Amino acid sequence: MTLTRDFIAFLSFTAMVAVYHCKADRPSPPTGLSYRWLDSFTVNISWQKPSRVLDGEVEYKISLMKNGTESSNWKTKSRYFRVNCLTEDIGSDHCTIHISSVIGGGDSEKESVPVPINIHTLKPRVEVKDIRCLVSFSLKGINCSWIRGNQPVKLFYRGCGLTEGQIKPLQCNETYSTATRDGCYLQDEFFLNICLLMDTKDGMRTFMPALEILPPELRVKEEGDNLQLSWTPPETGLRSCWEYTVCYKQCKEFKQCLKFSGNENGDEQMKVAYDKRCRYDFQSKVTNTDHCPKIFSSFGDIVTYGTDEPPDETLTVVAIVVPVLLSLCIILSCYCFRKHSSILCPIIPDPSAIFKEMMMNGNKELKPTTGTLYKPMPEPIEPCKITLVTENSSLQENS
Ligand SMILES: *[C@@H]1O[C@H](CO)[C@@H](O)[C@H](O)[C@H]1NC(C)=O
Repeated sequence: MTLTRDFIAFLSFTAMVAVYHCKADRPSPPTGLSYRWLDSFTVNISWQKPSRVLDGEVEYKISLMKNGTESSNWKTKSRYFRVNCLTEDIGSDHCTIHISSVIGGGDSEKESVPVPINIHTLKPRVEVKDIRCLVSFSLKGINCSWIRGNQPVKLFYRGCGLTEGQIKPLQCNETYSTATRDGCYLQDEFFLNICLLMDTKDGMRTFMPALEILPPELRVKEEGDNLQLSWTPPETGLRSCWEYTVCYKQCKEFKQCLKFSGNENGDEQMKVAYDKRCRYDFQSKVTNTDHCPKIFSSFGDIVTYGTDEPPDETLTVVAIVVPVLLSLCIILSCYCFRKHSSILCPIIPDPSAIFKEMMMNGNKELKPTTGTLYKPMPEPIEPCKITLVTENSSLQENS
């Protein structure tokens, strides 16, 4: 009897410790997790209440995991949750969601270990190449096209919302084909928060498209020493969201790219110093800053201004003719110099030879060696006629 009583006492003690332990530590996790697809985008996950907690005192934390880390989380008191699981967001064939129970709040909040659930997509992901979706704000329309593959693609769309009324994808019917691409034009009031489904026989692709707009059209005009560029912002209310990039070439050479944030009113403007001898090529694009919906444009058509002046011809003349003339002069003067060198510059006697000769002549008699030495011409000798003069004879005879 005492043994049974002791045993019961022991059991109740352990149970009490266990309960106390649970209350002081983490709550137990939710159980019986399951999911059901509501359409190709949205899945409904449900679970059961963990043991030993009351419905009103427990909350659940739902975490969407991406590559092993939490990418976003939500809290709810219900025992189900709707979430979009898009093939382009997960990079695999399933979404991973962690659900944990949470009790208390603030500093005394306690969370259970998370329970993971892998949600497999309805169809495997298919490759669709170069999807581009051009959005028109004024028409509230999106023109999506892609490179045609082996299988025909059907495009469905709806706003990405999770409420009952929103979960009904519509098929895009305004389809078209060009030489290499297929496309479809769709109109939707949720066009900034739209989910697309590309459905083929073997697979599918679900995603929120990157929305592309047409690049701003540049206008260029001359203003004094500058070129003034202006353009009209894209047709939305989010003017401060835009960031513009303008790149330009000056005289065929890339000069620079400049960035501008959108301003609240008026057209956008920029100035560039204008060298009138150059042609300018401008190109622009626009993107949205980080905290705004992802919208971008590619670079637009090139807008040109001015003409490249042909290189200065007088300079070319100077650069070619002057050296030619100069060398001609030098050649001519060389020629002249050679021809008349005897006049311009007689042979200069070697000073050492003169010295040697002087030394040798100091000992010997000077004897004529060549006929070229100076020979004085014989002077004409007048015969002297001496006549005796008498004292009285006149001097008239000799004069
Ligand atoms: C959609 O884009 C294609 C290809 O650029 C074009 O031919 C078509 O006219 C566009 N549709 C609309 C409604 O803008």
